[in-house]
Amino acid sequence: MKTIMYYFTGTGNSLAAARTVAAAIGDCELVPIASLANVSGPVVPAADRVGIVCPVYDSGIPVIVKDFAERLDIGAVPYAFGIVTMGRIGVSALHQLNGILEEGCKRKLDAAFAVKMPGNFPPVGVPPEGKKKEKILKKADAELAAIASTIQKGQAVSPSFAPVSALLQYLLYRPFSKNVHGMGTKFSVEDTCTSCGTCITVCPAGNIRMENNRPVFLDRCELCCACLNFCPVEAIQLNFFHGTKGRGRYRHPDLKVEDMKAQRGEKTATTPEMKLP
Ligand SMILES: Cc1cc2nc3c(=O)[nH]c(=O)nc-3n(C[C@H](O)[C@H](O)[C@H](O)COP(=O)(O)O)c2cc1C
Repeated sequence: MKTIMYYFTGTGNSLAAARTVAAAIGDCELVPIASLANVSGPVVPAADRVGIVCPVYDSGIPVIVKDFAERLDIGAVPYAFGIVTMGRIGVSALHQLNGILEEGCKRKLDAAFAVKMPGNFPPVGVPPEGKKKEKILKKADAELAAIASTIQKGQAVSPSFAPVSALLQYLLYRPFSKNVHGMGTKFSVEDTCTSCGTCITVCPAGNIRMENNRPVFLDRCELCCACLNFCPVEAIQLNFFHGTKGRGRYRHPDLKVEDMKAQRGEKTATTPEMKLP
């Protein structure tokens, strides 16, 4: 049974979730949503099962995923599922996804899952470290194994009732989605920058370029924080809310720069051939 899983990730949690489920269910193609951002028109996957896997941003889905979901036509797909990864609260992202799919292709997700994974947004919460981080990841792995089994059986799972998440989405998501592409103006680069270009390589939105040996942020930021969390010398700061100076950084332990390159559709020595539907 063929499955296509579309994913977006900033720091690897959602990619790790997608990979864990893919390994368990088999015959699964992982397609990065960022690699489809510059391809216009509807996306009509030919598969028995389709999944969407992404992080929660401000109790909703990343704007790049929202734009993609609006183009996705899964009307003829027998089984569709969504998995969101989140730091703490965000089930309403699944309700948002359902609303978009219902409007666009007159069907909802058959199964919707929210998995707690380490938070990756230092301006709001210091990312967990050490044993605390390991504990969260271990629990997430167990949940993902159960999710894979549910998908394998083709079972239906509705997203849970989530009043707090819905309220947060109501308050936060509209301003977030309106302003996110301009958030590049909130990043700054310290003199410790070595001009290594990692931030440019890992940005899934292609939002950073090098000028005079310093990264410059353009106007299509997704606020995924890959640049912030990957910078090897922590020279990138995000001047928003509590700021990021000395507030830690996070990346999923399995995530590599090569994975982020592949997310943009760039083939690398270690990425398998990616077929676009
Ligand atoms: C801009 C931004 C907003 C976020 N908003 C939320 C949120 O509303 N609720 C939550 O639980 N986690 C939130 N997070 C944390 C991420 O959803 C979480 O760490 C996720 O697993 C990251 O996935 P990734 O590693 O695939 O990018 C936010 C992260 C970012 C960068």
